[in-house]
Amino acid sequence: MAKALIVYYSWSGNTRRVAQVIHEYVGGDIVELVPEKPYPTSYSETLRQAKREIESGYLPPLKTKIENIEQYDIVFVGSPNWWGTIAPPVASFLANHNLSGKTIAPFITHGGGGKGRSIEEIKRLCPNSKILPELVVYEDGGRDLQQRVQNWLQKIGLLEKPRTTTNKHHTPMPDL
Ligand SMILES: Cc1cc2nc3c(=O)[nH]c(=O)nc-3n(C[C@H](O)[C@H](O)[C@H](O)COP(=O)(O)O)c2cc1C
Repeated sequence: MAKALIVYYSWSGNTRRVAQVIHEYVGGDIVELVPEKPYPTSYSETLRQAKREIESGYLPPLKTKIENIEQYDIVFVGSPNWWGTIAPPVASFLANHNLSGKTIAPFITHGGGGKGRSIEEIKRLCPNSKILPELVVYEDGGRDLQQRVQNWLQKIGLLEKPRTTTNKHHTPMPDL
């Protein structure tokens, strides 16, 4: 498979967990987007700040720098659903990197509202990228996460060899 970049923002860890599972399957490079100014640790303050930023279209500067984005053909882009769309650090990444001609595989985590307008927003920011069908995960995906990630990767054609926990052709070692 072409070299993959997995890039995501995560405030409370759910999207990070999904990113890590995707990374276990596809390899490549995994990068967490870190805003120059971190969001507050308080949930209600973060909610308020996020609302203001999304309403005004603010794109927060990022500490994270991605070297040679040209080397990647496929970019997995992960975001929590914030107020029905992608989190501002993810919008900032998409707006400031040229992903034209690349394939984007979006993954979104949410608290009950699903993907909202996230995919439309990714398409708006990356009009010249091919956007594959997204993976949508409730919170951190719970116990089904591995299976869901695997099914999704197979569906979008990014898993060459499905992983199996049991191997039919395996000859057990004799008991010693
Ligand atoms: C600022 C903020 C806004 C949110 N807005 C929504 C929303 O509109 N709809 C929704 O379903 N969940 C919303 N959530 C919940 C998150 O999408 C959900 O908990 C997600 O899995 C968090 O991912 P993370 O742990 O990677 O930050 C919001 C959370 C925060 C912090």
